Amino acid sequence: MMNDTFLKACRGEKTSYTPIWMMRQAGRYLPEYQKVRGKVTFLELCKSPELCVEVSLQPVDILGVDAAILFSDILIPMEAMGAPLTFSEGHGPIFPEPIRNQAALDRLIVPDPDVHTGFVMETIRLLRKELKVPLIGFSGAPFTLATYLIEGGSSKVFWETKKMMFTQPELFHNIMEKITECTSLYLQAQAKAGAQALQIFDSWVGVLAPCDFKEFALPYVQRIISDLQDTGLPIIYFANNGATLVDLSVQSGADVLGLDWRINIGDAIKKVGNKAVQGNIDPFALMLPKDKLRQRIQNLLDGAKDAHGHIFNLGHGIHQFTPPDQAKIAIDAVHELSAR
Ligand code: CP3
Repeated sequence: MMNDTFLKACRGEKTSYTPIWMMRQAGRYLPEYQKVRGKVTFLELCKSPELCVEVSLQPVDILGVDAAILFSDILIPMEAMGAPLTFSEGHGPIFPEPIRNQAALDRLIVPDPDVHTGFVMETIRLLRKELKVPLIGFSGAPFTLATYLIEGGSSKVFWETKKMMFTQPELFHNIMEKITECTSLYLQAQAKAGAQALQIFDSWVGVLAPCDFKEFALPYVQRIISDLQDTGLPIIYFANNGATLVDLSVQSGADVLGLDWRINIGDAIKKVGNKAVQGNIDPFALMLPKDKLRQRIQNLLDGAKDAHGHIFNLGHGIHQFTPPDQAKIAIDAVHELSAR
């Protein structure tokens, strides 16, 4: 029997309980993931469909979440564009050849997702044979992806990105155009391979002023989502640290808005109209003692009672040192306390 609670909530339909999954649910906090990861590098893992299937299934089997997310990384299609990518232990992703001029951008290609990232599509096809919960495909949003290409890796202040936005806006827009074309095709291919919902992660867009979000980031998200309309799949747009951007994010065209924990969910629901919401407890609140964690979950469920669909989630990815038992307590509590 297929559990379609998550998909119903995305469409704003009534469900018998509130579905839950956790961003970054397939990952290092699970000893079972560590075991698989111990044998291969992170990029090798991302390119081995059988292993990706195994780690995507882990949180479904071990924790009982209501949706699976494809195991991959938002930077995989950037590597496919031709930007060399490495992941170093402890330092995260590194692009040794950052994209900071038109010539470097011109050397990047718009990859054919089935050819250059065929392993992702294969993972999706294999997962669909195994899963009894819906499968979420994903990509990064153009702004977040651009920050990695322009900075050459992770950043806290985004100096190179913002400097380019403000001093060479044409170059910045050209980079966004190319990433957008790549991402749009990439998500369409995931839909064709069998993904049942698509999430767009805008992890770093919260560093933008609303006016800059509107000018430099939102139009590209809108274009991707409008390109995906023919797929009929629910689209989730998650603008991390986006409390000040909710009014604009509503204009993205997404069916579901992902919320981080810095905003009160009831306040957000008033702004999103008839869209569903996803979120939004502080990932670190999973460390609360059981009774306090359950109380916080109850409060969040109460706060979301007027939502046109609520998918319970963390406000950002689960932290790598979270004990899996604490995640399990939260998942069980959501199911139990929301049962109607
Ligand atoms: O369970 C899932 O959510 C699916 C898998 C997934 C990964 N990355 C696996 C991963 C997803 C959806 C992502 C998205 C991703 N990747 C984002 C957006 C979400 C967010 O957290 O904001 C971003 C910004 C990245 C880029 C990235 N990948 C960074 C900055 C890092 C290093 C820092 C870190 O958290 O380790 C990664 C590596 C990464 N991606 C790991 C995993 C499981 C850890 C790699 C390892 O095993 O060593």
